Amino acid sequence: MSSRPTFPLNAWYVAAWDAEVGRSLLARTICGQQMVLYRKTDGSAVALADACWHRLVPLSIGTLVGDEVRCGYHGLRFDGNGRCTHMPSQETINPSACVRSYPIVERHRFVWVWPGDPSLADPTKVPDLEWMDDPAWAGDGRMVEVKADYRLVLDNLMDLTHETYVHGSSIGNEALAEAPFDAVHGETTATVRRWVLDEDPPPFWGAQLGKPGKVDRWQIIHFKAPSTIVLDVGVAPAGSGAPEGDRSQGVGMWVVHIPTPSTEKTCLYFWCHLRNYRIHEQRITRQILDAGGGILVEDETVIEAQQRALDANPNREFYNLNIDAGSLWARRLIDQMVHEELDGKQVARSIPIKLAGVQA
Ligand code: FES
Ligand SMILES: [Fe+2]
Repeated sequence: MSSRPTFPLNAWYVAAWDAEVGRSLLARTICGQQMVLYRKTDGSAVALADACWHRLVPLSIGTLVGDEVRCGYHGLRFDGNGRCTHMPSQETINPSACVRSYPIVERHRFVWVWPGDPSLADPTKVPDLEWMDDPAWAGDGRMVEVKADYRLVLDNLMDLTHETYVHGSSIGNEALAEAPFDAVHGETTATVRRWVLDEDPPPFWGAQLGKPGKVDRWQIIHFKAPSTIVLDVGVAPAGSGAPEGDRSQGVGMWVVHIPTPSTEKTCLYFWCHLRNYRIHEQRITRQILDAGGGILVEDETVIEAQQRALDANPNREFYNLNIDAGSLWARRLIDQMVHEELDGKQVARSIPIKLAGVQA
């Protein structure tokens, strides 16, 4: 394995669901950096380095006092900008006494932090997840901690053939694994499109559609570097016009998957299912949340086992199949970000990935 970092630092990463950050101290490790998150009394979110300036005790085991964190060891206090505002037994505060404060943005029900160079933190670069806030879409999600490199989660999502083998009781079936797909990419994005036409739906989708008969099924995977994937998925009665653009007879979801690197070998995997049908039925939200959680456990089991196998075989390379085109693009776009960050130069983006039978 190379010693290059596996993630860029100059990017927005989801650190928490908005509801996870409140009037208490939340410790999160994002891209190897230990942070403490909380909300000030005006509701705005703060992320500080989780190590006291004095003797490095984690601030997250201290106390939130008004808008400030008080270290639990000797009582130094830091404001939301990381500046020390109080030292015990002394009037003058050393002007260098501060902890790092991270750029932070709250958007699309997530709290995003920028672990890299703060001068580059442009809030307009937060990935667009408009359905998360759109009343025409309903749903909810969770976060799970996965003991694996976040790129293994991305690999898993960029090729949904695995649904046939990992999720056979819910969303996978044989027709899926055999259906053709194409993979395309942009400067920071990669997309894999697959349609399965005129086949029986797998159990989950049959139940969501609630109509008998064969279906046309779509799976369109959108990756945005470094760690956001949204799946545009759904089914419609076969021949009702979905491939031509009329999905009105079908049911669809946007499924948001964001595995934030925590360390090189662990990630915080945020996910959410949003649907555009029966949106006022909370029962459906709960059922899909539970089903989604069960599907996630199946992925997590495989991915964590894969990470253990990688650790046991550090010199082995991956072999690549046609189905890996999307994940190869995702990894290449991440590598480019890391390369530009470390070496400060743009690299050619147009070298094709060669896979037998696939134009990527
Ligand atoms: S370690 Fe925080 S006040 Fe001493
Ligand atoms: Fe999966």
